Amino acid sequence: MITVAGFNTAIDRYIRLDALQPGEIHRARAEQVYPGGKGVHVAQTIAALGERVQLIGLVDAPHRNLISRRMSERGVLFHGVEVAGELRHCMALQEAGGRMTEILGQGPLLSPLERDALLHAFRRAAEDSELVILSGSLPRGFAATLYADLAAHVQAHGMRCLVDASGEAMRQTLLARPLMLKPNRDEISELLGYAVTDLDAATQAVLALRAQGIAMPVVTMGELGAVAADDSGVWCARIDAMQVVNTVGSGDCFLAGMAVALARHMPLEHALRLGVACGAANAQAEETGFAERAAVDALLPNVSVYRMHA
Ligand SMILES: Nc1ncnc2c1ncn2[C@@H]1O[C@H](COP(=O)(O)OP(=O)(O)OP(=O)(O)O)[C@@H](O)[C@H]1O
Ligand SMILES: [Mg+2]
Repeated sequence: MITVAGFNTAIDRYIRLDALQPGEIHRARAEQVYPGGKGVHVAQTIAALGERVQLIGLVDAPHRNLISRRMSERGVLFHGVEVAGELRHCMALQEAGGRMTEILGQGPLLSPLERDALLHAFRRAAEDSELVILSGSLPRGFAATLYADLAAHVQAHGMRCLVDASGEAMRQTLLARPLMLKPNRDEISELLGYAVTDLDAATQAVLALRAQGIAMPVVTMGELGAVAADDSGVWCARIDAMQVVNTVGSGDCFLAGMAVALARHMPLEHALRLGVACGAANAQAEETGFAERAAVDALLPNVSVYRMHA
């Protein structure tokens, strides 16, 4: 069983309109509402790839059914911890020309009791797990050290821990030395204090993370692919140029692919191949943060994996 702590569940609203004009009234051409947030993306893609997965995250009363139904359709065991405040709403506005504008809500401020309930649900669920993923923003009310504390907890119990966080939460998590940290190019640039814009710089970046005690760091570089390292060396994987529809959530699907491969004890170079195929499968489809197995299988032969020389 893979456990995903993706606490800050969102309600995503996708609206298509002709052209966005600030200050004007717009009529939607199409509209969809579905559960979102990084935890949902990661968990549903893990399930699509055929591994057992559970997700711990916030719910509110108005959206409990929407989220539970979608997660069970997708094969995810969902432990929703109900809070009094309303879940965050995220809006993606897509214009006819393809441009996307996103508005991300803040989400509820948790009370101490609600924070305890969430942590209790997480610790209980993680007990029968071998791999734990901490992913996404922290609900308001938690300290930036939350992922560092959870990573230390799960690793002390012999579980492997993969983390996708940004800003101060990632900086703090580094100190707990999770097995994997997965920044994208902007996040690693902010962490290291210089721009990581090509694969050579990404190679130096994963080595810098190794030097800080991360056994298996990965840096994802969008259309350039991804670079990862472990004791076997530094590896890069990328895919041939392809038609792109929506890349939002590609990092989440990438992480899902890596997690599935690690749960199956595949070596890093094969894990990276699966991760890149999942990221690309997400980018090819309209839906945010979901990679279907058939699409992933079709893309796998187009991924090239090679060693980077440090
Ligand atoms: N335009 C693209 N073409 C091909 N593959 C892509 C493209 N964008 C992303 N990918 C694949 O998905 C992986 C993750 O993408 P990216 O680095 O953009 O993640 P991210 O910024 O963390 O995304 P998010 O946080 O929205 O989930 C990349 O390493 C790559 O393999
Ligand atoms: Mg990301």
